[in-house]
Amino acid sequence: MSNKTFYVTTPIYYPSGKLHIGHTYTTVAADAIARFKRFTGYDVRFLTGTDEHGQKIQKTAEAQGLEPQAYLDGMVEDIKRLWNRMEISYDDFIRTTEDRHKVAVQKIFEKLYAKGDIYKSEYEGWYCTPCESFWTQTQLLEGNKCPDCGREAQLAKEEAYFFRLSNYKDRLIEHFKSNPKFCYPEARKNEMLSNFLNENLEDLCVSRTTFDWGIKVPFDTKHVVYVWLDALCNYITALGFMSDDDSEYQKYWPANVQLVGKEIVRFHSIIWPAILMALDVPLPQQVFGHGWILFGDDKMSKSKGNIVYPEPLIERYGIDALKYFLLREFTFGKDGSYTNRNFLGRLNSDLANDLGNLVSRTVTMIEKYSDSEVPSPKVKGGVHDELSIEAIRAYSEFEGQMDELQFSEGLESIWKLIRRTNKYIDETMPWALAKEEGKKDELDTVLYNLAEAIRIVGVLISPLMHVTSKKIFEQLGITGQQELLTWESVQEFGKLTPGTRVSKGEILFPRLDIDSEIAALEEIFAPKGEEAGQKPLEHKEEITIDDFDKLELRVGEIVDAQKHPKADKLLVLQIKLGSEKRQIVSGISKHYKPEELIGKHVVVVCNLKPVKLRGIDSQGMILAAVNDDENKLVLPAVEGIESGCEVS
Ligand code: MSP
Repeated sequence: MSNKTFYVTTPIYYPSGKLHIGHTYTTVAADAIARFKRFTGYDVRFLTGTDEHGQKIQKTAEAQGLEPQAYLDGMVEDIKRLWNRMEISYDDFIRTTEDRHKVAVQKIFEKLYAKGDIYKSEYEGWYCTPCESFWTQTQLLEGNKCPDCGREAQLAKEEAYFFRLSNYKDRLIEHFKSNPKFCYPEARKNEMLSNFLNENLEDLCVSRTTFDWGIKVPFDTKHVVYVWLDALCNYITALGFMSDDDSEYQKYWPANVQLVGKEIVRFHSIIWPAILMALDVPLPQQVFGHGWILFGDDKMSKSKGNIVYPEPLIERYGIDALKYFLLREFTFGKDGSYTNRNFLGRLNSDLANDLGNLVSRTVTMIEKYSDSEVPSPKVKGGVHDELSIEAIRAYSEFEGQMDELQFSEGLESIWKLIRRTNKYIDETMPWALAKEEGKKDELDTVLYNLAEAIRIVGVLISPLMHVTSKKIFEQLGITGQQELLTWESVQEFGKLTPGTRVSKGEILFPRLDIDSEIAALEEIFAPKGEEAGQKPLEHKEEITIDDFDKLELRVGEIVDAQKHPKADKLLVLQIKLGSEKRQIVSGISKHYKPEELIGKHVVVVCNLKPVKLRGIDSQGMILAAVNDDENKLVLPAVEGIESGCEVS
């Protein structure tokens, strides 16, 4: 194993809901880095996990009638299933409820307390007793109301432990300035320096007593450790920091890159390094704050019903389609927007047209014009050399871009080679060369160069799209030839051995009909039932067709409508039913004026037992669709059907 190590981490996810493509984004990026570094010879450690303590998790579990641990076990299983389904190559998965983490966090807390970096004091804030939550003055609504429940909060004091964050302000600024890539990209660094590090950096409250779902402060067990202090430490506790065996910590720490979304950069580039400084532990080389994936222009959120989950996309289009889109569409570091149309557009143009077509055309031509064997190249110079130059350019650009985490540009460098290779086919026209006398050498050269370019593409994309890359190698017949699949093997053009047998496999990415796919995705992602904020339907007892047959439903025409003399809600309707006439009293006066009803055709329940409603006879009932709070009522349309006709 290599002695060059590389440690990459994702944030640990809250297992309080299903993960969506925003979460998937961080993990896909970390996976791409991990795979690329392994591929280029590093001994890689890739860590991910779940952040399982805190009041929110406790409350969510309670709301489902479960013990927190039982609730979490189920949720974490789902998260692991997703990562396995996506073939995420993590080396370790840490849960903050594991002993290895809890014990180490307690030791860290004790150490910081012993050093004087954690001290006991009082926390003062606005306390909402029913919610058991402290709020700051600015969080309160209308002066003193709890933002969660709207009840009055009281000014209260509570004993708490504090971390001396203020002591580290100067060292942090110094670190930011002398390590310009520590907090990255530039915009995030500037935001931290100007919004947080130029102000009074206050000490941080790092314990709570208002709930108990957390790691207990070992020497004062009515306190639990603040969830962010607990969570941030995962990056070193997972490596065995302060345990009997800290060899992995010695080997991999400090992390080379810690990926986080932009909203948690502050925790990772200010609080986390200050804790590490207090522990005398080196800081990670880089905290990279990526942007958000928005849905259209909006933040994805359950209440807006605009969440895109990865599973349906993977099932329908494959793992690589989603990974390619996430890495290619957005500039890593900036916000971007997901729409079904831009997702599908990428699939068609880049994957089906550019890459899929190139592979399928090339393999087909080798089968047809060279008996399925890669021929040997005979001609040098001109357009043939241009292709090899382009392949080397792609390789060297890609390496630099991956090192800078510029996945989108990296993929674009490979796609330039793909597009150039497609153009090479159009320029050299192998189908014409095959027909012309004396062009065999030229044809062989073109076919060889195409196969070799595809091999290089397959190798280059392998850290980002390993499923597709394997399929390409299978079609080229080089799966077993390890020396042709390595990173070193693409530093030179011409390594593919003539005589290799190709065989056409399934189409890599079928062309999609965008409009019908959009319709299918809208159907899949449309919020349903409770997710859309609707209450579950309450159904009545089942009936048989014989029960239904007892009803006599007919179309009736309203010929007269008057207000009920004694009840505002009611109208007195005269209804023509074929040759008969009926009087029906109906509660629709809030929704229809009497004159609007004249001439309307409605459905009448004819055999309902007659009753008197506020003194007036009613012989039946008319059907109406009404929503739950009865603020909207509509008479079903049966216009054009003659009165008296049966409805069944
Ligand atoms: N538990 C904390 C992290 C603790 S790390 C010591 C947390 N969890 S989270 O589940 O809410 O978010 C995890 C990551 O997913 C964050 O980096 C966050 O930015 C990312 N994303 C969540 N929604 C996102 C998008 N819509 N777009 C891109 N990433 C976003 O924060």
